[in-house]
Amino acid sequence: MKMIFRFLKPYRWLCFFTILVMLLDVAGGLLVPRLTADMINIGVESKNLDYIIGKGIAMLAVTVFSGAGALLGSWLCADLSAKIGRDMRNAVYDKSLTLSAHDFAQFGTGSMITRTLNDINIIQQSVVWCIQMVLPVPAVCVMGVGMAFAIDTVMGFLLIAVTVLIIVLAVLVTRRASEIFGRLQKLLDRMNVVLRENMTGVRVIRAFCKERAEEQRMRKAFEDYADTSISANLLFAGLESAAFFVINICIVSILWIGGDRIGAGYMEIGDITALTEYSIMILFYIIMAQMVIILLPRARVCICRIREVLEKEPEITDGPGMMRGGTTDAQSGSERAEKAVGKETVCFQNVSFRFPDADEYALSGLDFVCRQGQTTAVIGGTGSGKSTIAKLILRFYDVTEGAVRVNGTDVRDISQKELRSHIAYVPQKAWLFSGTIAENLRQGNEQAGEDEMRRVLKTAQADFVSGLSNGLDAHVSQGGTNFSGGQKQRLSIARALMKKADLYIFDDSFSALDFKTDAALRRALKKEVADAAVLIIAQRINTILDADQILVLDEGRIVGCGTHGELMANCPVYREIAQSQMKGGKANV
Ligand SMILES: Nc1ncnc2c1ncn2[C@@H]1O[C@H](COP(=O)(O)OP(=O)(O)OP(=O)(O)O)[C@@H](O)[C@H]1O
Ligand SMILES: [Mg+2]
Repeated sequence: MKMIFRFLKPYRWLCFFTILVMLLDVAGGLLVPRLTADMINIGVESKNLDYIIGKGIAMLAVTVFSGAGALLGSWLCADLSAKIGRDMRNAVYDKSLTLSAHDFAQFGTGSMITRTLNDINIIQQSVVWCIQMVLPVPAVCVMGVGMAFAIDTVMGFLLIAVTVLIIVLAVLVTRRASEIFGRLQKLLDRMNVVLRENMTGVRVIRAFCKERAEEQRMRKAFEDYADTSISANLLFAGLESAAFFVINICIVSILWIGGDRIGAGYMEIGDITALTEYSIMILFYIIMAQMVIILLPRARVCICRIREVLEKEPEITDGPGMMRGGTTDAQSGSERAEKAVGKETVCFQNVSFRFPDADEYALSGLDFVCRQGQTTAVIGGTGSGKSTIAKLILRFYDVTEGAVRVNGTDVRDISQKELRSHIAYVPQKAWLFSGTIAENLRQGNEQAGEDEMRRVLKTAQADFVSGLSNGLDAHVSQGGTNFSGGQKQRLSIARALMKKADLYIFDDSFSALDFKTDAALRRALKKEVADAAVLIIAQRINTILDADQILVLDEGRIVGCGTHGELMANCPVYREIAQSQMKGGKANV
């Protein structure tokens, strides 16, 4: 509840007016039966047409007033709901940006999407329903029962008895609903995860002829959800029938007891009409409120899930300091001179790292330096820890032991934003965003003009863009699926090159390129990023032959460090990799 109030707080005046308008609507609704009763008791009894017309006009005025109140109330509620929904989504999204890869993995992408879309939708709806249907209930009950007591005490007690009966029924049903809706939400999550996996991996499923197995998995997820939904709907149906049963019993009782009371002279015929309408109105509001209350456990589950995200303490938090001597557009001459002599851009100091929840170390005792103006290459077998080095530099994870320094500052001492502003990164899995090529490139530099983009595309050997009918405005599908693996790689290299950085990291970014393009790209790259430090992670030896320093990684340890020539002479692991890739003893450069 605290969380809901937090989001409602900025709109407290809107809430206040909404509730006020809803109450005016209720008051109007309760006044009409009173006017009807007077019309029948006095006007019809004495055949006084003027009185009847007068009451009729009053009824019309109250109905118009009450209808306008209902309309305005609904509009205000919709406005309030949309605003808190928007604020919650923004808050969850902002939070998700601060979470580390491990934090995020704890929730799972599917669950995060369900939480942001579905859960917040349910919370939004519940808030509106509570304001529209639950909040007016006490007012309706008090006013309705009060009006009934004003007509006849016995009838007043009858209405109290029925009201209490329905409230008891509501409490009993709510307990059962809580459990069912909790389960329903978990099953929705599961369905989302399976669906997402199937949709994104559809080609793999087809290639391995796994349609049948996946179909069964999907069907199971759908069926479980459907079964639980049926239980929830049965609960609603049972409640609805029970409620109508109680309403009908109540009306029969009013007519029956009312007949006796009229006979005894305590009431008039018009009062029966008013009492019936009061009872229907009270019971209608209680039943509607009950339906909403049944749904509240589901909203509570959703609130807990959103709170879980919002209250998650990120494992990786920003340091307080500023980076010393990073690249900025306004660099001093002495800084540039310092670069020329090969300032330490990245420094690993006895770094060991174990992924959270993993038993084994992914990296052990790493010591190396990447210098400005130099290319450092990392080579090693699959799973040897190459990408993990990049992730530690970017601080996607924190080192378990030792320290990583960028521009002389420990990455834990500065803000992640500042750290990453000095680094241009091409991830191992090239990922493009839906939109246009230009929009993707502008993620590297928002201000970049078309000439700059064309120049960078040329460096990244992505000339194919000029051959596309829309050129830079060519459409990119989600994830870049309308481009080949090599094209995606080149576009994501171009995106990184758009950024002016101290350090360029290419994580296996040339793997899908043919040898000729790979060599041309590296030549062009040398000129483009001559001022910066470059870290190239590769599996192919010919990609790293020219590097100033090559680190050979084997099971998370550096087993060799030097130039190609030095390593060929001294490092058996490197020699083995090189020989396995060389044709006739010479690498295919
Ligand atoms: N999120 C993770 N949680 C636990 N272990 C992980 C995680 N990511 C990677 N690992 C493990 O860490 C080790 C190093 O992984 P890394 O991705 O750095 O390898 P790599 O050298 O880049 O491999 P490749 O050449 O296939 O890209 C592997 O053994 C891998 O199983
Ligand atoms: Mg890798």
